[in-house]
Amino acid sequence: MLSPTFYLQNAPVYLGALSDFFYDWLGQNSFSQIFILTDENTRRHCLPVFFAQTGLETRAIVHEIPSGEAEKNLATCEKIWSAMAAAGLDRQALVVNLGGGVIGDMGGFCAAVWKRGLNFIQVPTTLLAMTDAAIGGKTGVDFQGGKNLLGVFRQPAAVFVDPVFLHSLPEREWRSGFAEILKHAVIAGQSFETMEMADMTALLHRSIAVKVRIVEEDPTERGLRMLLNFGHTIGHAVESYFLATPASLTHGEAVAIGMICESHLAGLPAADTLASFIMRHFLPCPMPESAFPAIWQWMKQDKKNTSDTVRMAVPDVLPYSLKIMEPTRAQVENSLRFYNRLA
Ligand code: GLY
Repeated sequence: MLSPTFYLQNAPVYLGALSDFFYDWLGQNSFSQIFILTDENTRRHCLPVFFAQTGLETRAIVHEIPSGEAEKNLATCEKIWSAMAAAGLDRQALVVNLGGGVIGDMGGFCAAVWKRGLNFIQVPTTLLAMTDAAIGGKTGVDFQGGKNLLGVFRQPAAVFVDPVFLHSLPEREWRSGFAEILKHAVIAGQSFETMEMADMTALLHRSIAVKVRIVEEDPTERGLRMLLNFGHTIGHAVESYFLATPASLTHGEAVAIGMICESHLAGLPAADTLASFIMRHFLPCPMPESAFPAIWQWMKQDKKNTSDTVRMAVPDVLPYSLKIMEPTRAQVENSLRFYNRLA
């Protein structure tokens, strides 16, 4: 029997072909029912692969939701819970979340509260979910315009990361996930300049190891886990700004801009190297100065803020060390100008 690649809070994380691990893992458990949550894309492209590798086709109940972040809300949860009710899911059932971050977060949330908690597994199908969203037990949905405002921490029973699903991933989604891989490398003080996609399993291994280490040390984000927000304070605001324009960005594209701005603002030693590496891999997205006030307003709405100040978590000098900053509006705007000069 092959051992898990990692353990996170005693739950196995498997990296490699599903068929190498799944039968043994399933054999160690006895689930009454298997309920698979998919979206329209993963049902078409990933479910046949999942069935071929797990042999679950004859016993699984499949529920499909429309794809996209706009579906990540309580109304969709209600539909999922209705499907769970119709299937008569009892407490011994297993929920399988087959998809990207939206499916993983929302399926985990639905499982965590159904009958006070069902076991669920994460089977991420995007690079972003493989390296970040599926690892670490964050579940939840958006609420009244706030990203992930409702949710609970609950670790999955297992995570299965199989790079086979990446074959059907569009180019932009690759880049989006690559930004989080880069973020993990910076946090861990790893060199990223030689990083390339050639050996995907090695790249995933290196990146998941960073996430596992951080979550193990701080599962509920009281301290160190905030480091995973690097690039996201400015990045989320930039993402929200571009959402209202015809040129919306993926999450990773926005985080890449955020990392350039935040590392420049914080004076990170790797700031310049990181900026030129990102500019080589991502398309330039300059922002007009007239956008700066809106970007600052979005930053002020961030969940991390305590009062009227903006809080930003960035890497400190040593690997796996955290610095909390409270940047001024002028500092943020300067960092956006720095990005614009590169773009
Ligand atoms: N995606 C950031 C975290 O899991 O904490």
